[in-house]
Amino acid sequence: MKIIRVSNYEDMSKQAGKLMVEKIRSNPSMVLGLATGSTPIGVYQYLIKDHKDNSTSYKNIKTINLDEYIGLPFGDSNSYHDFMKNNLFNHLDIQHENTYIPNGNAKDLDIECARYETLIQEIGGIDLQILGIGENGHIGFNEPGTAFDSRTHIVNLAENTRVANSRFFQSIADVPTHAITMGIASILDSREIFLLASGVKKAQAIACLMTGKWSEDFPASALMHHKNVTIIADEDALTVF
Ligand code: GLP
Repeated sequence: MKIIRVSNYEDMSKQAGKLMVEKIRSNPSMVLGLATGSTPIGVYQYLIKDHKDNSTSYKNIKTINLDEYIGLPFGDSNSYHDFMKNNLFNHLDIQHENTYIPNGNAKDLDIECARYETLIQEIGGIDLQILGIGENGHIGFNEPGTAFDSRTHIVNLAENTRVANSRFFQSIADVPTHAITMGIASILDSREIFLLASGVKKAQAIACLMTGKWSEDFPASALMHHKNVTIIADEDALTVF
């Protein structure tokens, strides 16, 4: 794993954004795996600004997101569909039919998981996957204990994940209890991965990732055996390491 140490959130967003733009420009029809949460917002702002200033085009880019809550009504501002539209897609020249996010309202969620897994292959696999990390080491919504050979599946969200994500909702009771997420094996199939981390809340998880053992109790440790992972982390996230 390669580590890029940056000073703060702004710097993390700029470094990751710059690298992404270089890759998009050299492969304008690439497949980007995207993440939600507060961590990648600055990177998305960088991409939007670069698109305006330098006309980097997303016309032929495809995106596929890691996860989505189950049961949030269509158009709910906390759904990852809305998050992606508001924070990225609506500000680029991307074709909306080329952006994919699991359907957390599908009638048959098992069929939806299988469809999504097949879709990843059908669009050519993921060239570059962006990841944040949960305080408990989750990637996507793969909570501790998830099998490393897991594919897209339904998860029961860990209580600490619901508490951490409740800051976006009116109350903890409003945070969904379940989600659909790409599995760990689905993520590891990506040809390249950027893991972003900012802030002291992530320091323990990052320390665990860099020094810890390979264990399904710590989902991010699956990345240790991937050939092309870059961690872009700020000083605060690297304090324990
Ligand atoms: C959610 C998302 C993850 C994300 C994590 C961390 O649980 N499903 O993909 O990495 O939150 O969020 P944040 O970046 O807000 O700390």
